[in-house]
Amino acid sequence: MHARRALMYMPGHDRRKIEKAIALQVDTICMDIEDGVAANRKADARQGIAAALAELDFGRSEKLVRINPVQSGLAEDDLGAVLPHHPDGIVVPKIQSAADVHWVEARLEQAERQHGWEAGSLLLIVLIETPLAVIRLNEICQSSARLQALIFGADDLAAWMQATRTPAAWEVFYARGAVVLHAAAYGLQSIDMVKIDFNDTEGLRQEARMGAEMGYTGKQIIHPNQWPLTAEAFTPSPAQIEEAQRLLDSFDQESGQGRGAYAVDGRMVDMPLIRAARNVIERANAAG
Ligand code: COA
Ligand code: MG
Repeated sequence: MHARRALMYMPGHDRRKIEKAIALQVDTICMDIEDGVAANRKADARQGIAAALAELDFGRSEKLVRINPVQSGLAEDDLGAVLPHHPDGIVVPKIQSAADVHWVEARLEQAERQHGWEAGSLLLIVLIETPLAVIRLNEICQSSARLQALIFGADDLAAWMQATRTPAAWEVFYARGAVVLHAAAYGLQSIDMVKIDFNDTEGLRQEARMGAEMGYTGKQIIHPNQWPLTAEAFTPSPAQIEEAQRLLDSFDQESGQGRGAYAVDGRMVDMPLIRAARNVIERANAAG
């Protein structure tokens, strides 16, 4: 699976920002037609994305399109404009159920048949940002073989819940935990909430680190300032890699001598720590 440490949004009609994201070599570029685009510019965004997909080389960056919600009445036209140019996948906001995912999937299948593309080549990522989506995570995770990641939408969810967004984000902590847990259960990636104040570097560092510590594999970003710190938070550091490698080496030795649990520097080492160490090495490899 493509490493998605950062998923960067920009309005679909803003060619300058799309080109900027390509130059930054952001992991995933998500060209938006939804909430980042005013109601009277939806058509511009559709055209802008179609042109960008047709004309630009995205290099190492993945190219995704965020369409409008299935219930908005706009999604059909969004898909009609962008699918002929084969983005890597579609990001679906405000889903409420598996049925919403099926609605989009039927249109992806049709586009693949119509253009003679490989079946399943258009991937899906969904935003968990309504109370119903949180409650139905189990069915949503099983809704499509195309599904690669869940995105946690804290700001929309807080609005639905009548909650007040705070920097510590305790008001959405249950949902933030539920998203990462369900993603792990079904082998999906999990992409954490957006830090709206894009000049708050220290706040971003803390929020990104907490997301990574919770098990999230990446974070949504909205500004170039946020890319280096986010990439850093979701890439194991040299010290973490070295520590993981040391544990794995010790495990080979000790388990060869029949020991399942043993001590290293005053800490017990057993299988859970070894699994965590393997995860670190895997993430480091995925990030290149
Ligand atoms: N992607 C790519 N480039 C971006 C960018 C983004 N999301 N946001 C800003 N930039 C670029 C600007 O074009 C500018 O480059 P330039 O000087 O070469 O033109 C540079 O980064 C600095 O931008 P800055 O002036 O600090 O920001 P701004 O006032 O132009 O834009 C926002 C602020 C919030 C409007 C902008 O960051 C943005 O559009 N973010 C994404 C919004 C979005 O998609 N929301 C929906 C998902 S939550
Ligand atoms: Mg949203």
